[in-house]
Amino acid sequence: MTRKASRIHELSAEEQSVYRNLDQEQMPRHVAIIMDGNGRWAGKRSLKRFFGHQQGAESVQYVVETASRIDLPWLTLYAFSLENNLRRPRSEVNFLMKLLKSYLVGNVQRMNDNNVRIAYIGRTGELPSEVQETMRWAMESTARNTGTTLTLALNYGARSEIVDAVRQMARSMVEQAAAQNLSLEDLLFRLNQMDEDAIGRNLYTGKMPDPDLVIRTSGELRVSNFLLWQIAYSEIFVTDRLWPDFRGIHLLEAIADYQRRERRYGGLGDGASDEKTTELESGKDISELVRH
Ligand code: FPP
Repeated sequence: MTRKASRIHELSAEEQSVYRNLDQEQMPRHVAIIMDGNGRWAGKRSLKRFFGHQQGAESVQYVVETASRIDLPWLTLYAFSLENNLRRPRSEVNFLMKLLKSYLVGNVQRMNDNNVRIAYIGRTGELPSEVQETMRWAMESTARNTGTTLTLALNYGARSEIVDAVRQMARSMVEQAAAQNLSLEDLLFRLNQMDEDAIGRNLYTGKMPDPDLVIRTSGELRVSNFLLWQIAYSEIFVTDRLWPDFRGIHLLEAIADYQRRERRYGGLGDGASDEKTTELESGKDISELVRH
């Protein structure tokens, strides 16, 4: 079903010209972004890394508002990884925490004006308690919005997300076993019912669709422990642009690029002929087939 975005007139003229060429039948439902390059942006200007992060927070708001204007249902941003938390100097981690707090305090009103709902994924319980309080406040203050869901990945790592999901499933099985006095046979039966859907439901993203498109800024060709399970079939768009220079127009350009891809999910795709597979089924010798 085609979604009709009703706030297109709020896009800049430049954004509108890219948006008008998008195929409304092929809009992504979920875009996830690895925001990288804040440090390099600052370094190029002989500024401290902190300035890069500050400018990066501005980009976040530009991109969120463009996403909300085009009615993108899900936008997930990798804002702070578990590895950032463990491996960056304390002064930088503390700065990022302060920036997150001031970003939320300063932008909740704009989120409400744009009908954006804020959510989080990650081991957020390990963040400083005053940051958690602000996060909770921002989430509650925007909970009734029905437009874009902006999910901030904070203290997030995809491998630990999978560990948390498996622990959660095992814990609930142990609780059921104790409460219902289950036999070993019952337990094995339930264990066999654990499938990909069940693991997906127990991830932090359990209620979200998988990302259609992952964008990474600043040119590195890696996924950096981001949504490893969920991006199995996502299209990946890497741009050399550094995150502090990324704007709504670049989100739209990435979506245009995404629409030129053919998503096959392991199948053959629309253009594929089934002539070779039919010939194989009909028992032709394989060497005969590959010679043609
Ligand atoms: C990478 O830049 C970016 C991060 C550490 C996380 C992203 C943080 C922000 C965009 C700022 C604040 C976010 C919110 C939601 C308020 P880097 O430092 O790794 O850059 P480098 O690779 O060039 O050093």
